[in-house]
Amino acid sequence: MDSETHSPHPEHPRHVTRKTVLRAAVAATAAFPVALIGGPALARTLGTTGAAVPLTPSCDDGDDPTPDQIEGPYFKPNSPQRTSLLEPGLPGTRLTVTGYVFGRACLPVAGALLDFWQADTDGTYDNTGFRLRGHQYTDSRGSFALTTIVPGLYPGRTRHIHVKVQAPGRPVLTTQLYFPNEPRNNTDTIFDPRLLMTVRDGDGGREAAFDFVLDVPQDPGPGGPGTPSPGTTWAAGTAYKAGDRVTYGGRAYVCLQAHTAQPGWEPPSVPALWRAG
Ligand SMILES: [Fe+2]
Repeated sequence: MDSETHSPHPEHPRHVTRKTVLRAAVAATAAFPVALIGGPALARTLGTTGAAVPLTPSCDDGDDPTPDQIEGPYFKPNSPQRTSLLEPGLPGTRLTVTGYVFGRACLPVAGALLDFWQADTDGTYDNTGFRLRGHQYTDSRGSFALTTIVPGLYPGRTRHIHVKVQAPGRPVLTTQLYFPNEPRNNTDTIFDPRLLMTVRDGDGGREAAFDFVLDVPQDPGPGGPGTPSPGTTWAAGTAYKAGDRVTYGGRAYVCLQAHTAQPGWEPPSVPALWRAG
């Protein structure tokens, strides 16, 4: 039995704005520098047909950070670092959850912490060990991938996965992710449709996608909203050549190959173009 308190919440419309476009832009800008230098990493961003992999809605205009939710009674610190929560003998339907972590300017956040915990297929949390608990970090493109099982139901709640998300050095977002077409979504007063994952059937299980938008400031570059952050000389639109030095977010970077900078190619996001140091 979960003692998560129930509280009323306003009805929230499903946000579908510029999300698809922006996620595609992030994927494209991340892929292009890799393509410049070739190499096997390209396979990560292209399907077997050579076309870009399907993209699901993600970051919007940046003025709607992912809402927080109550932690509930079952969080445990110090979960193991791992991207798969599967273990021998663990029953349940396999589930992958993939997505990106963005900041307010819809730029990816590299190195963001994601700490997941959930019930097993019977709706039970492991409060003695760390079964179905694990943390991981987004890669240089701001993406994450979790392999787990579809959580079971327990009294009073609809199906959900708990997660804490934290950009480096920023406050922790505690929230929960939900599954579409669950009957209990209509009666669970904690449920928030803004936290619905996109879920489809996949090979041997289910494939879910969700992108987080953290309430962290980002420099979107000239022409974008906001103002440049201190300690940033990098600027979109600038033609850089190998060996050029810039700072971004207070860190120094060296250009690895000539290119004209553009939003989405910030030095922390594109290791093919910039090396810290
Ligand atoms: Fe829960």
